[in-house]
Amino acid sequence: MSTVREIYSAEQIAGRVDALADEIVARVSGSLTVIGVLKGSFVFLADLVRALERAGLSSHVEFLRLSSYGNKQKASGDVVLIGGYPDVDDDRTVLLVDDIVDTGNSLSYAVKLLQASGTQQIMTCTLLDKPSRREADIEVDFVGFAIPDEFVVGYGIDYAEDYRSLPYLGVVESVED
Ligand code: IMP
Ligand code: MG
Repeated sequence: MSTVREIYSAEQIAGRVDALADEIVARVSGSLTVIGVLKGSFVFLADLVRALERAGLSSHVEFLRLSSYGNKQKASGDVVLIGGYPDVDDDRTVLLVDDIVDTGNSLSYAVKLLQASGTQQIMTCTLLDKPSRREADIEVDFVGFAIPDEFVVGYGIDYAEDYRSLPYLGVVESVED
């Protein structure tokens, strides 16, 4: 059996998302397209674009879907684009949004994809950062919370497709029967 130990409440997340929106608004000039990396970013992105709007910055929304194969807790590092390519005008600033930056392989793959297609100005934002696990040479511009190397679920983030709908963030713990 497993239980989820809460690490950030819905209220704590909401406060941090508002503060992140202020940080982003202070750094972005011109028109913004927010690109969510599916599926894990969908809840965070929905809250972030509304926080940006309240902070005075409207955005277009696109998605891209990456896969690093399977439902394992450790990503393999082999990242591929599955599904369609996001539709972005080259003159817009792109904010790439993901749930977690772990090894950094996913985000750095997505940045390279966009650069190759002609996007000039790319910034990155993740709700969570596990700095101790980094492999790729990427610095995320906006981070919600830095966390230790623990497996996190909730607020859009899954373990084998479970737990995405939890309104808070937590760590899955095994419980002996
Ligand atoms: P990276 O390519 O290693 O940076 O992995 C990033 C992706 O791995 C995230 O977008 C998540 O989909 C997944 N991931 C990394 N850590 C966790 C976790 O603790 N819980 C759930 N998914 C995770
Ligand atoms: Mg992901």
